Amino acid sequence: VDLFGARKNSVGVEFGDDAARGAFLAAVGAARLPERPALPIVGGTEIARPTRAVISPVDGTTRVGAVGEGDGETARAAIDACAAAFPAYAASPVEARATALDKAADALEAGRDRLIALLCAEAGKTLADGIAEVREAVDFCRYYAAEARRQFGVDVVLPGPTGEDNRLRHRGRGVFVCISPWNFPLAIFTGQVAAALAAGNTVVAKPAEQTPLIAAEAVRILHASGIPAAALAFVPGDGRVGAALTHDPRIAGVAFTGSTETAWAINRTLADKRGPIVPLIAETGGLNAMLVDATALGEQVADDVVASAFRSAGQRCSALRLLVVQADVADHMIDLVTGAAKELALGDPADPATDVGPVIDAEAKAGIDGHVEAHRAAGRLRHAGDLPGGTLARGTFVAPTVIELASVRDLDREVFGPVLHVVRYKAADFDKVLDDIAASGYGLTLGVHSRIARTVQQVIARLPVGNVYVNRNIIGAVVGSQPFGGSGLSGTGPKAGGPHYLSRFALEQVISTNT
Ligand code: NAD
Ligand code: ALA
Repeated sequence: VDLFGARKNSVGVEFGDDAARGAFLAAVGAARLPERPALPIVGGTEIARPTRAVISPVDGTTRVGAVGEGDGETARAAIDACAAAFPAYAASPVEARATALDKAADALEAGRDRLIALLCAEAGKTLADGIAEVREAVDFCRYYAAEARRQFGVDVVLPGPTGEDNRLRHRGRGVFVCISPWNFPLAIFTGQVAAALAAGNTVVAKPAEQTPLIAAEAVRILHASGIPAAALAFVPGDGRVGAALTHDPRIAGVAFTGSTETAWAINRTLADKRGPIVPLIAETGGLNAMLVDATALGEQVADDVVASAFRSAGQRCSALRLLVVQADVADHMIDLVTGAAKELALGDPADPATDVGPVIDAEAKAGIDGHVEAHRAAGRLRHAGDLPGGTLARGTFVAPTVIELASVRDLDREVFGPVLHVVRYKAADFDKVLDDIAASGYGLTLGVHSRIARTVQQVIARLPVGNVYVNRNIIGAVVGSQPFGGSGLSGTGPKAGGPHYLSRFALEQVISTNT
């Protein structure tokens, strides 16, 4: 089945080509940071609010821009405006919505280098991560545009007796609240909003408090591309704004990506309201494991482990947290992994030589450092790299770290940074190790490195995780190729960037006519 028609994913930068690399670096280097503050946008109008500076995690000093955060009143005004805009937007042709998303994709692509400069400064993204992030945002817009045309553009004609016409039609649900995290502040923010809009909803979008500036750029692009200003409101702010939005009885659904704790809080809020029963699409964290048996190829494992655990400073929900290695090869694998980790360059994310940038803020760094120090005190550290100095000494860097644990069960929470935990298992205990991984209750990503097909199939059958990666790294799901999302404590599914995502944002209506 050709689900995707002529749609193609966006392309990256050819770093092996001197001219292409030089032009890209020059453009990112010359890009200006936003001069306008990120203010709430309601009914197409910016709302004046007191502003605060957004400071870069790279050096803890550089002012990236300013944000004026909304409050409960702004949240209510945004829902008022989006509720008023809903009937007209929902009645707009699917083709008009899809065309606007395609135009937004083109504009994101055209603005790529400027957006990457902002991602580096505001979120501490490396250049490679910045390229991947803009590509993902572009791909989400084009993918959901194509899916909206395919799924919502025509009625589905259903069977029935002679004299009866049955058809299934999709329509928007109402005002969708989209709440996103800071770790993919452009891609996830844009993906949620694009999906909700494609399905015919109006949207109130709340970015993470750490990354409002890049989200404001995305909103400006969507508005300029033909999404009616009244159909997309923007309310920067912290969890209190998210709570105000989700408490409102008029909302028709919530798309949330973030921590499991916040998803629980939103679930409680929705459950306690007296009002319509609305869907929650929640994509949350993971305790992602990679199983490596004695048949795995050592150098490939090391490469995949380092990418999965340390790229993006480990700040991916998909990132590897637990490397579970057969005891016979564990010393060799740990040596390869720590050897490769030692080669990683920590530094300014805008420098192409940098592999690992900072973590998002001082609070995140303190939490990760506390975890590492507790294990250092217990003698469990196998590797800890050095931190950058000089102008980056005040940046919130955490060095790639490898900790050895006695059991999978010794890690019971997601440590959202460049920290890898290693556990050895004896071949005879393989089933128990799978039980221990399943017992965490998370189900986001899983890696298997084995040349034995039966082992691979056994692991896949035993662990109900959303995304399984065999003999490769476990990060960087590609829109349309690796629809992404988990189960259990990792979220509700359905999968972002997959063919069943949009229908969760839409209302199905069946019309049966006696002809
Ligand atoms: P977080 O839960 O702290 O915040 C996420 C968003 O929720 C923010 O916008 C925040 O302001 C908002 N929020 C906080 N409290 C709220 C409340 N009571 N009501 C409504 N909204 C509220 O998460 P984070 O630290 O920004 O992001 C990191 C987490 O996100 C990690 O756990 C990571 O694994 C997860 N994540 C999951 C996926 C996925 O696709 N499964 C993708 C990226 C990140
Ligand atoms: N989609 C992101 C990844 O796969 C979270 O790494």
